[in-house]
Amino acid sequence: MAWCIRDGLSGSLVGTYWLAAPYTSEGKRISVDAQRIAKPFWRTGRTMAARRLVYRYAFEDLAVEEIHASAWDHNVNSCRSMERAGFELVEVAARFNPKHGKELNERHYVLTRERWCRLSQRSGDG
Ligand SMILES: CC(C)(COP(=O)(O)OP(=O)(O)OC[C@H]1O[C@@H](n2cnc3c(N)ncnc32)[C@H](O)[C@@H]1OP(=O)(O)O)[C@@H](O)C(=O)NCCC(=O)NCCS
Repeated sequence: MAWCIRDGLSGSLVGTYWLAAPYTSEGKRISVDAQRIAKPFWRTGRTMAARRLVYRYAFEDLAVEEIHASAWDHNVNSCRSMERAGFELVEVAARFNPKHGKELNERHYVLTRERWCRLSQRSGDG
């Protein structure tokens, strides 16, 4: 699934959000997410607002139990943004990066439904 994110006031294109069709692995219903936000909108709250809508849909409507996501470890923006959203680091593994032409470390994160519910209740979003 893919969504286009638009700014509510200007209608400008803010970015794109992807959520993979859920699959089952080791008895858990899992999805994977990714997003690309236009630079002028970084750190403006739009990414977090989009995350809230997408995660509510994934956990409540699609009955997903875990959302998995990953980023190269030099992608500070992505890693911090995920950590701020509640993702927990589960693995760091080397993988060939075609853009850099060498192996780099990739950080793998998981956001569980329980953790998302807890954090949403604490921030008043639940
Ligand atoms: C990754 C990306 C989506 C992050 O979007 P963003 O809007 O800048 O990030 P967020 O607003 O979600 O950040 C949330 C919090 O994370 C932390 N954070 C984010 N970037 C940070 C940075 N560079 N340094 C320190 N903390 C950071 C902050 O606490 C921030 O909250 P604040 O702005 O209130 O201080 C955006 O940079 C992007 O689209 N990058 C290109 C594509 C990409 O790498 N996508 C991810 C992999 S698919």
